[in-house]
Amino acid sequence: MTRVPVGATMTDRKSAPVERQLLPSTSVIADDGHLSIGGVDLLSLAEEYGTPVFVYDEAHLRERCREAVAAWGDGVAYATKAFLCKAMARLAHEEGMCLDVSTAGELAVALAAGVPPQRLVLHGNNKSEAELAAGLAAGVGRIVVDNFDEIARLGRLTDSPRGGERPKVLVRVTPGVEAHTHEFVRTGQEDTKFGFSMASGAAAEAVAALELMGGVELVGLHAHIGSQVFDVSSFETTAEILGTFFAPLELAELVVGGGLGVAYVNGEQAPSLTEWAAATKAACDRVGVTGRVTAEPGRAIVATAAVTLYRVGTIKRLPGVRTYVAVDGGMSDNPRPVLYGSGYEALLPRAAASERRQSVRLVGKHCETGDVVVSEANVPDDLRVGDLVATPVTGAYGYSMASNYNKVPRPPVVFVSEGSTRTVVRGETIDDLLRLDV
Ligand code: LLP
Repeated sequence: MTRVPVGATMTDRKSAPVERQLLPSTSVIADDGHLSIGGVDLLSLAEEYGTPVFVYDEAHLRERCREAVAAWGDGVAYATKAFLCKAMARLAHEEGMCLDVSTAGELAVALAAGVPPQRLVLHGNNKSEAELAAGLAAGVGRIVVDNFDEIARLGRLTDSPRGGERPKVLVRVTPGVEAHTHEFVRTGQEDTKFGFSMASGAAAEAVAALELMGGVELVGLHAHIGSQVFDVSSFETTAEILGTFFAPLELAELVVGGGLGVAYVNGEQAPSLTEWAAATKAACDRVGVTGRVTAEPGRAIVATAAVTLYRVGTIKRLPGVRTYVAVDGGMSDNPRPVLYGSGYEALLPRAAASERRQSVRLVGKHCETGDVVVSEANVPDDLRVGDLVATPVTGAYGYSMASNYNKVPRPPVVFVSEGSTRTVVRGETIDDLLRLDV
């Protein structure tokens, strides 16, 4: 595959083929330019499954889970909000990860997948009594407590003695760190709906309250500073602040959250799971943390494992203005561009190694101007109606945030591995769209 030479300009980078680091790990570009993943040619996959379709490289998913477990050790949890279905829950569990679930729905999917409840961590800034009760009834391994109302709810739900172990809980604290990321996904600063403030003393109060509660066992602290964070120093600072508060409490577990960023476009560089863990753990060591230090990555496990395949339906050329290339999906399968202004690359699976000299706006089929898939997509000059287009790095927060806007059915999710494909979530049908109407 063509590499961008060192010292390349932005224009070179944009028109070069999509970088290898943005593609799932088993991606291969054949001599005829066709891209295959998991030994499956994407053009034939699209023929078989139709478009749009999410294609996940199972080997890539497994590699990332293994890397997370090797880097963080036992207890590291996959944040299921990034992408969840039964197959994914099972895969993460098989590879040794715990699972972070933040609603009764995520909890139910993980349990339906057969993940043992003690491998689940229940999150949420506004867990209802029913959600807490469901977690307790299932016997989840950990509950991360977010606020005083929740402490009261937990107190009510656990005040009558029951057999067996007391539920293990962690306190979610806000360390007062501003992660360098989009403001919508920043969570570590003082001004946030999440967790107990360390600065105000609320965190210490929560620790004291939970230590006194007979029905639960306080085992640790938790913090999460935000998502799509590239700068390891944000994590180091958090670990030092957290660790300083944590060390004298003599608790067993410190969870530093998720949030590790991934590269979405050519030229971006993100730390690996291994580098993130090493830097964070070293920072914890510096401030005398002796307990288990672990994390809950979501995006870094699944983002790069998938591409979305679309079919080009129409091309509108506005000379001197721009060219719009419309595909058969859009903001209903990937709301990230419209929500966060997120950038993606686009490539033609029939010509994955080709230069991409033409700049176009890749748009969807929804009835609004904000429905952009890639605002400035570079594509080969000969792109035409009927072409298959792939957007890489759509494995996180794409399917999980998909909607039925304009009554567009959500696409199927297909896992590829060693030359075979399997549907793990079927595509919705028109009947599915009508199933809730009464
Ligand atoms: N732990 C907690 C408590 C979280 O709230 C999150 C993400 C994670 C772990 C996993 O973070 P990750 O490693 O995936 O960054 N929809 C946004 C991302 C929202 C993240 C919400 N919380 C996006 O598409 O960028």
